[in-house]
Amino acid sequence: MRGPAGAARADPRPRGRGCYPTGPAKIDLRSRNLTIRLDKDTAGPASVGAAVRDRYSAASKEAEAALCCPIDYDPRYLRVLPEEVLERDYGCGDPSKYCKEGDVVVDLGSGGGKICFIASQIVGPTGVVHGVDMTDDMLDLARRNQSVVAERIGWSNTTFHKGYIQDLKTDLDQVESHLAANPIKSVADAQAFEAWAARFEADPMIADDSVDVVVSNCVLNLVGEDKRANMIDEIFRVLRRGGKAAISDIVSDEVVPRHMKDDPELWSGCISGAWEESEFLRVFERAGFHAVTIAERQEEPWRTVEGIEFRSMTVVAYKGKQGFCWDHNQSVVYKGPYKAVLDDDGHTYPRGERMAVCKKTFDLLKAGPYAENFVFVEPRDSVAAEDAVPFDCSPPAHAMTRSTGWEGLSAAAPRRDARESKGADYRETMDGCDPGCC
Ligand SMILES: C[S@@+](CC[C@H](N)C(=O)[O-])C[C@H]1O[C@@H](n2cnc3c(N)ncnc32)[C@H](O)[C@@H]1O
Repeated sequence: MRGPAGAARADPRPRGRGCYPTGPAKIDLRSRNLTIRLDKDTAGPASVGAAVRDRYSAASKEAEAALCCPIDYDPRYLRVLPEEVLERDYGCGDPSKYCKEGDVVVDLGSGGGKICFIASQIVGPTGVVHGVDMTDDMLDLARRNQSVVAERIGWSNTTFHKGYIQDLKTDLDQVESHLAANPIKSVADAQAFEAWAARFEADPMIADDSVDVVVSNCVLNLVGEDKRANMIDEIFRVLRRGGKAAISDIVSDEVVPRHMKDDPELWSGCISGAWEESEFLRVFERAGFHAVTIAERQEEPWRTVEGIEFRSMTVVAYKGKQGFCWDHNQSVVYKGPYKAVLDDDGHTYPRGERMAVCKKTFDLLKAGPYAENFVFVEPRDSVAAEDAVPFDCSPPAHAMTRSTGWEGLSAAAPRRDARESKGADYRETMDGCDPGCC
């Protein structure tokens, strides 16, 4: 899986605040060292990591009712799923509904494969679905049903990978085959293994910028707190520009205390690893995503423990606000209903005001989930890419196209004449008009 190189003109400005640099600068390679690759207890805190593996290993063989959360999947897609896949459903939402025909999808913590098999039908024969899971028995369940589903729907587009969702570079099936043939018995063997495993940097299991939708159903909460930043950065790395994460997970209405987090039963049961719900949105924001949205939030709690409510929430977050800012004389008008809105780059759009924006922001607002809230104003004379000049996109204030100003904006906000964006010699509408018709 390979993503496009995304060639662009060089940015003449230093990288810094503003539109450009809010995505992760790089993946932390320290988490991908030998210790992590071979550590069998990396799923959660040391005391509960093994509990996650053991619990889902057992739950792959016999359905565990305590792990089930009722979900209304689209029944059209369930008809072709084998009974044992339907039975071992440990999800808490349906992120597959955010996929569309032709998409490349990655499902984090794919378990018995249910979301992958649903997504497989939605994306159709031109799409591709990758499931990633660390538990052998879950992978066996999913893999043995792959051909059954493929035969029933008429195409085969799913692959199940053994891997940690906090490290989507390292293919653990390959690691295990390599270790079977090259067991580590000495420091020299370990060094040789390290050298061999470096291949995943150049040729990762899931390539950079290659995925349209990353989905996950009730898994992120199981990952240890020390691995979570890496996990979110990995989601960001594999998504292509314009791609999105659609994550259903359990969240809490209060921060979960330490003694509950250290309880293996509560952690592996998708309870005490839950993010406090506002923090769940912030982790995506911090990683450089934009338009982070609560797509669904269960009204009644799924569980209440020590007075803390745990419920399912589905969050959708987009990748693609990073990049250079060029001025193409474009502007936008926020339609309302709010008095003003603030985007993830810190730009304020007062209702009804025409705001100059760089081409990147213009395209982002037009293509993304914001589109219906804005009017998009193209200049009368379009600006060719080679003629565009850098646009100062830095917050807090956004360049304005009207001299009237707006009291909520800083006095230092750059202001531009609206006529600039209409073209220097635009025609008055009365020009050449037949007086008889006007
Ligand atoms: C609650 S089940 C959800 C399974 C599936 N998504 C569903 O909807 O039924 C959690 C799954 O995540 C897997 N898992 C947990 N932590 C993981 C990690 N760090 N890396 C990969 N898989 C993980 C478990 O093996 C298990 O299959």
